[in-house]
This record gives sequence, C-alpha cells and structure tokens, in this order.
Amino acid sequence: MTGRFRGRIALVTGGSQGIGLAVVRRLLADGATVVTCGRSRDKWDDAFADDPRLAAVRFVPTDLTDREQLDALFDGIEEDHGRLDLAVNNASPALGSVGPTAEVDDADTRATLDADLLAPLRCLRRELGLMASAAARS
Ligand SMILES: NC(=O)c1ccc[n+]([C@@H]2O[C@H](COP(=O)([O-])OP(=O)(O)OC[C@H]3O[C@@H](n4cnc5c(N)ncnc54)[C@H](OP(=O)(O)O)[C@@H]3O)[C@@H](O)[C@H]2O)c1
Repeated sequence: MTGRFRGRIALVTGGSQGIGLAVVRRLLADGATVVTCGRSRDKWDDAFADDPRLAAVRFVPTDLTDREQLDALFDGIEEDHGRLDLAVNNASPALGSVGPTAEVDDADTRATLDADLLAPLRCLRRELGLMASAAARS
C-alpha cells in the first residue's frame, strides 16, 4: 500500500461491514487516520475480531438518522482533529420502502428519505464545514 493518505483525517459512514468496511481498510492501509460509524457496536466488534489492524480506527456508535447522534459524531471529529480531509458517505440501511408503489406507506417512505437523503445531506454539510477548516489552514 502507498501511504498516500498519511496525515489525512478520513470519515467513512457505515464502515462496519460491506463496502464501507473495505473502504476503511483501504484508507487505513494507505496511512489515513480513520473514523467510522454504524448503529451496531456488535457489528464493529465482529469486524475487529477478524482484523486486529482495525484497532487503529475510531468507531463511533451512531444512528445517522438521529440528528443529535449525527452532531455528536461530527463534534467529536472537530474536537479530536479540528478538520476533515476525506469523507465517504456510504451508510445506508436495508430499505423499508420496497415493493409495489401502491403498497409502500408514508412511514416507510419517510424512513428511506431520512436515511438516504436527509442524513447524507446533513453529513455533507458538517463535512464541508470541517473541510473548509482544513483548507483555511493550508
Ligand atoms: N452492495 C451493493 O451491491 C450496492 C450497490 C449500489 C450501491 N450500494 C450502496 O453502497 C453503500 C454500502 O452498501 P453495502 O452493501 O456495503 O451495505 P451494508 O453491507 O448493508 O452496510 C451498510 C453499513 O451502513 C451502516 N448503517 C446503516 N444504517 C445506518 C444508520 N442509520 N446510521 C449509521 N450507520 C448505518 C451499517 O451498520 P449498522 O447496521 O450497524 O448501522 C453498515 O455498516 C450503500 O449506500 C448502498 O446503498 C451498494
């Protein structure tokens, strides 16, 4: 691996499994300081049990559809690092709003919009703020 992200602060949302976990591993191998999140700490513990190199990653249990939890995640990054250099908005739950349109109710549609539209948008706002801090320093 290259070390090309050495000294960079990276956030990967939903990094406890699947594509997000692969991205976490890659960024770590390339030298980044990596923060990730997911709702379940157990999932992260399973990933960590399989790969002890993940000890270097800061996992923050977070449901990104909960605004306070989302803000706490970014406040923590701000306190610890004061900036963000890379962000991968990968988190997404299993879809509730699947099926024939006539059968998908408002509650499931709202849950999908919260998880897959509003949450990534809120993350992006906070990420851009932290990236602006990084740009102002360089
Ligand atoms: N797999 C595919 O073929 C495919 C194709 C196209 C696009 N994608 C997109 O790629 C991304 C990753 O897909 P994947 O298949 O790797 O997904 P996955 O295996 O289901 O993993 C999703 C990750 O997101 C976390 N997550 C879900 N809801 C969350 C929430 N509300 N707050 C915080 N974390 C949350 C999960 O942890 P917890 O459950 O513990 O929260 C998990 O770590 C998704 O955005 C998906 O839509 C995937």
